[in-house]
This record gives sequence, structure tokens and C-alpha cells, in this order.
Amino acid sequence: MKGLILSGGKGTRMRPITHTAAKQLLPVANKPILFYAVEAIKDAGVEEIGIIISPETGNDVRETVGTGERWGVRISYILQDEPKGLAHAVKTASAFLGDSPFVMYLGDNLIKDGVAPLVQRFNAGNADAFILLKEVVNPSAFGVAQLNGNGRILCLEEKPAKPKSNLALVGVYLFNKNIHKAIDEIQPSKRGELEITDAIQRLIDTKFHVDSHVLTSWWLDTGKKDDMLEANRVVLDEMSDFVQEGTLEGNSIVSGRVHIGKGSVLKNCTVRGPAVIGSNCHIEESYIGPFTSIGDGARVSHAEIEHSILRESCRIADFNGRIEDSLIGLNVELTRGNRKPVAYRFMLGDDSKVEVV
Ligand code: TTP
Repeated sequence: MKGLILSGGKGTRMRPITHTAAKQLLPVANKPILFYAVEAIKDAGVEEIGIIISPETGNDVRETVGTGERWGVRISYILQDEPKGLAHAVKTASAFLGDSPFVMYLGDNLIKDGVAPLVQRFNAGNADAFILLKEVVNPSAFGVAQLNGNGRILCLEEKPAKPKSNLALVGVYLFNKNIHKAIDEIQPSKRGELEITDAIQRLIDTKFHVDSHVLTSWWLDTGKKDDMLEANRVVLDEMSDFVQEGTLEGNSIVSGRVHIGKGSVLKNCTVRGPAVIGSNCHIEESYIGPFTSIGDGARVSHAEIEHSILRESCRIADFNGRIEDSLIGLNVELTRGNRKPVAYRFMLGDDSKVEVV
């Protein structure tokens, strides 16, 4: 069994953050989303992993993830020239995959229970493809499956206007070598992509066996800002313990499950967990509320931050008013010279959204 993680794509829904960064490297609880995928695959006992990368963000992904040595796996990088669809990504990886069965994992997804039980079930059974499903309230936004009573797939539709069920395809798939022929036999969809749903439908139409499992635990697709914040909330909520490697000074009060990294100093701050503060941060006279992740090297003073993700090396000073539900990129500076809100001065990237509430 091999692993294939898809970390190419355009990330249009996450602009402007994805103008300069791969969305799969954005942190959830201060760890890149992509690391959760590598760990899930490794935990399933799969040690040979290919990662699909794009020309735009491929080098960052390669540098951040490395050879896989830190997890005890071997990682190869496979360049996909253009994001022409999930099935196109599989096609691009065909030399890496050979005739091996493989688990395919979308690099911007998070699944609570990992993939080990699914890999075991696939290995023990005789299905040609195995897909994960989850009941959702808005099936039209997803690939949707219709099942017979035994969990066998009858048909799949990509983003249907009139969905036949509320079961959406989750970003994990298991395949044997028969998927390659099915991909060769499909055409690009109306949106110009080679769709994995069409390839799986082709397997069904040509009498191959496609099995499924309906997830009951959480699954998160971090395609948009609010999904990222939700992923951060869910992962922080499951964090255990209080870990203090940094120092608390003055009248600092820390309550609940909070991680404070090495070299960080908090002076006269209130922190309410669950929250994680990276290493070498300097935070003073500030309130850090629940479901907040602050990246390494942040400098924060006279600010209130809640339910937000701040990437590394941000500087927030004298920001009167609460920052909430925010995703703030690398090295962002938010400052205000006057304590009274008179005027705002921003330097923001393309497509930025500012909400003053
Ligand atoms: P999507 O989120 O469906 O696509 P995207 O990354 O282009 O994002 P957006 O819709 O916001 O423009 O992709 C799911 C995952 O698969 C994601 O990690 C990117 C990856 N992917 C590839 O590696 N190659 C591809 O051709 C496509 C379409 C996606």
C-alpha cells in the first residue's frame, strides 16, 4: 500500500492568504494541515508517500515537509503542471503508484479518526475502490453518493443541483490499480477537470466493486477561512493538558488548556483556553481568548484576540477592540497609534476582507 496526498490546486477560496502560501501549509493548532495527513497515513502503516505539488507552492511544501524522515516515512514529490482535477493528479502520479493499491488523501482535509481502520478494511476485503462518506446538510456543495442497503455505491454525482442523498464524499479514497484504466476512460467535466467521482462512476459502470463507509466522527475540509477556524476550534478543543514552557510575568492569568511554547513571555495577560501560543512570542497587556492559535515569534501588546489564527511573526500593537474570527497571515502588522478609533490604516493584499464590527 502507498499513500498519495494531494497538495497542489489553486486555493482560490482562501485568497488573499493563498496568493503567497500553500493552503495545505496553513497551521491548525500551530501545525501545518498537511502534517496531519502525513501522520494519518503513517499511523495506517503506510510508509511510502507521494505528495502532489503545484509549480507555485511546490517548493514551500517540499521545504516544510522534507524527506519524511521525522515521521519515519519516505516522501516523494510529484509535480502536477496544472490543477486539472483529482483524477488528473492520480494520472500524474502513475509512475510513482505503479500497480500498488493506494490511499489518497486530500491535503487540506482533516479526519478525526485517521485512516488506519479504513486501510485495514480495504486490505481485508475485495473492493476495487473504497470511499468515505459523511452526512452533510448541504450536499449540493459536494460529490454525493447514492447507496444500496449494503453500503455499495449505486451512483455518484459531483455537486448535484438535486442530490439523491445527503452523503458527501470525504477527502479520503482507497484504490487498487483498476482506477488507472477508469481514469483513462473518462473525459474532462464541464469545469474542465478530470473528476475522481467520474472515474469511480466508471468503475461502477464497468462492474467493479466500490465500497463505502459512513463516518460518524468529524471531518473538516479547510477550503475557506471559516473552515480553517472551525478546524482550529475542533483540534484545540481536543487538546489535553496545560503545557507551560515559556514564562508568565506580572499579573498574568492562564486558565484552561493552554500551551505556551519555549522562550515565550506573557506579561500582564489573561489567557483562556483552549489556546496555543508558539515559541518566542512576546505578549503583554493582552487578552487571548478560547480557540486561538498564535504562531512562533508573535509580538502582541494591548490587544484582545479570540477564535483566530495568527501565523508566525505577526505584530499587533495597541489595537483597540477585539480581533475575532480572523485568519492573519505571516508577518502581518496591525497597529494603531491612537487609542481612540479615529482612522484605520491598512496595507492589505488582493481580495482582502475587512470587517469592522
Ligand atoms: P480543492 O480544494 O477542490 O481545489 P483547490 O485547492 O484548487 O481550491 P479552490 O477550490 O479554493 O480553488 O482541492 C482539494 C485538494 O486537492 C487540495 O489539497 C488541492 C488538491 N488538488 C490537487 O493537488 N490537484 C488538483 O488538480 C486539484 C483540483 C486539487
